[in-house]
Amino acid sequence: MAVVVVMGAQWGDEGKGKFVDLLAAQAEVVVRATGGANAGHTVWANGQQYKLHQIPSGILYPGTLCLIGHGVVLDPAKLLQEMAYLRGKGVDLSNLRVSAGAHVVFPYHIRLDEAEEDRKGANKIGTTRRGIGPAYMDKFARVGIRLVDLLDRDEFLPKLAAQVEAKNQLLDKVYGMPGFTVEEIAEPYLEYAEQIRPFVANTVELVNDAIDAGTNVLFEGAQGHLLDIDFGTYPYVTASHPIAAGALIGAGVGPTRVNKVVGVVKAYTSRVGEGPFPTELMDATGEIIREKGHEYGTTTGRPRRIGWLDLVMVRFACRVSGITDLAVPHLDTLAKTGLKSLKVCVGYRLPDGTVSKEFPVGLKALAQVTPVYEEIENWEWSEALSKAQRLEELPVNAQRYVKLIEEYTGVPVSILGIGSERTEAIYRAAMFQA
Ligand code: IMO
Ligand code: MG
Repeated sequence: MAVVVVMGAQWGDEGKGKFVDLLAAQAEVVVRATGGANAGHTVWANGQQYKLHQIPSGILYPGTLCLIGHGVVLDPAKLLQEMAYLRGKGVDLSNLRVSAGAHVVFPYHIRLDEAEEDRKGANKIGTTRRGIGPAYMDKFARVGIRLVDLLDRDEFLPKLAAQVEAKNQLLDKVYGMPGFTVEEIAEPYLEYAEQIRPFVANTVELVNDAIDAGTNVLFEGAQGHLLDIDFGTYPYVTASHPIAAGALIGAGVGPTRVNKVVGVVKAYTSRVGEGPFPTELMDATGEIIREKGHEYGTTTGRPRRIGWLDLVMVRFACRVSGITDLAVPHLDTLAKTGLKSLKVCVGYRLPDGTVSKEFPVGLKALAQVTPVYEEIENWEWSEALSKAQRLEELPVNAQRYVKLIEEYTGVPVSILGIGSERTEAIYRAAMFQA
């Protein structure tokens, strides 16, 4: 019986959905506690593909309680769309619960996100344009509107009116963009509220009750360590805390309750959006990994930037989040590229010639590092290998790849993804054991 946090240890899109889905099989409760509709988690189950954004991947298991915590910025229209999509695929939603404390994303957040990105031009962050930054800005400016407000017409309407007034000024005077009327937002949003109302619950009580009762609880991370507002490649980050601690704040659970933190590390690196990326591959090698790994955004469809595995950043993630176990998907993808050799970054050479294991704080410094690589010959893949049960059944170079990650980070690789299906994974340790 244990409490397990699954988080991304890179720039998001590590394949968290797959491992959350795998581990959810043993969990009674799955919690999503940070980010919002910027996340995109692709899960393959029973030969079907599911794309999830705000609903925890645990929803694919009947009987698993799925909580959306107050740390999420909730886009109600998108949530209802996602619910309809899942219902259409025959998924039962009766175990979904949403915290009334979640802040709500409004159309003016989305317009402001777009306006600010367009204003920045070449310096844009490359956001998902889902209104995430502006919604968190309102939260921290203490003018946000929460689900609890939206559910109470008398509370909601004056708050909305004040926000529409303020945001219209901003849109008009700073960005020269049209604003909104209160009615055009209030009407659909009050309707969304009624549709969401049956799912609203005190998720803090539910998750802590579950932990007290000794059941298995899984936190589903969104985004990744390097997108963290404090520890990521600021300003090319999201507006929340994808690190393990963020999941606890966003759910209302204390740090003493967690047994394991699983960091998901893709066998190579990808990122969407702008900013320095030391191991980036701008050539045909990057192209072939992108193709074989289907590296196009789940949320925006953008081609993802691709690079070699960077253990300097993974080690950084391990330290900040106290990662106890690594989960590594896409080993099969690397093999399927047919590339002769693969590189893994094991240090940053600084302009003065020294080699460092430290991830720099400033982007200027990050842009100036030259990755130091260790090379590993690629391995042949056959479909049969996706059925392997033990690391030792994989080609010797694949084993070396995994050992290199373990040696560098000092953290065991406990789960390996060797195909897209649920069953195509190797477990080297049980996660739900305290
Ligand atoms: P999952 O959960 C990858 C990136 C955006 C942009 C930056 C800020 O699928 O791993 P935002 O819209 O959050 O203000 O954008 O963060 N980003 C992600 N990149 N995976 C994600 O989520 C992301 N969520 C946000 O591309 O660079
Ligand atoms: Mg994603």
